[in-house]
Amino acid sequence: MSSPSEAELIHMFKGIPFTTRSSPELLKSLDTFDAREDDLLLVSYPKSGTHWLAGVITKLYNTQVTLTSPIEFGDISKLEELNKLSSKRIIPTHLDYNMLPPNFKNKKCKMIYISRNPKDTAVSMYHYYRDNPNLPTIDTWTAFFDLFLKGDVVCGSWFDHFLSWEEHANEKNILFLFYEDMKKDLFKIVKEMNLFLGLNVSDKDIQDICKKSSFSEMKSDTEKENSDPSHTVCALTSNRKLIFRKGAVGDWKNHFTPKQNRRFEEIFNEKMKLSEM
Ligand code: A3P
Repeated sequence: MSSPSEAELIHMFKGIPFTTRSSPELLKSLDTFDAREDDLLLVSYPKSGTHWLAGVITKLYNTQVTLTSPIEFGDISKLEELNKLSSKRIIPTHLDYNMLPPNFKNKKCKMIYISRNPKDTAVSMYHYYRDNPNLPTIDTWTAFFDLFLKGDVVCGSWFDHFLSWEEHANEKNILFLFYEDMKKDLFKIVKEMNLFLGLNVSDKDIQDICKKSSFSEMKSDTEKENSDPSHTVCALTSNRKLIFRKGAVGDWKNHFTPKQNRRFEEIFNEKMKLSEM
């Protein structure tokens, strides 16, 4: 069987490439989504640590919560399905701020944005593309590197995504986190999440959550639960090993040539000149 063409896998919506698993009808209808005040959004550019964040957050709650698949994923029936879920809903999304259903903003729903060094994000996404039949074929790292810098990958430009959210980073209902900070001191960041969410989880329980959320623990849990449909943060693959690949900071150094690094830095400095990062 021949592999599907790019047009069968990717379509453009408002100038951003989406996989065809996000139907145009669903994307168009997002503006009408009825958010609830207690919805929690987990926001990220792909490959920034969304599963890690979701793993920690679901362990922090000791009440019934439902972790959904990304809001932009599925067909037109998606919003109806979400409507039927009882609270509390924890909803992941890779949407940029401007595309987020306005209701989440008007109701001041809590949102956690996780970001990661875009060089490592690019490398993680490259491996994800390579081994994923639901994404266009990528021949080489060099080819992917160019596509990433142009924003010609699912969810568009890392820079546009980050900047659209960074503008709102100081709003009270938004918590901005970095993957690298979680690697450095997970306990500290989970305490921050605990405070932001108004939960009263003890330090001892937080320590336990940190242990259970280490890369090796999450990877082996996932291997055991390969076919568990409730693990839906990534809706693009059933191969969970693709999600828990290396879990390291600085893997970009094993992929970038010095020339690619210079080019990346130039573009980064240009695009991010108004950023506080
Ligand atoms: P790598 O491909 O660099 O290993 P997302 O969940 O947004 O798709 O991001 C996936 C990335 O997060 C992968 O990066 C994955 O290994 C990493 N990751 C997932 N769980 C992790 C954990 N518990 N600790 C550290 N990194 C984790």
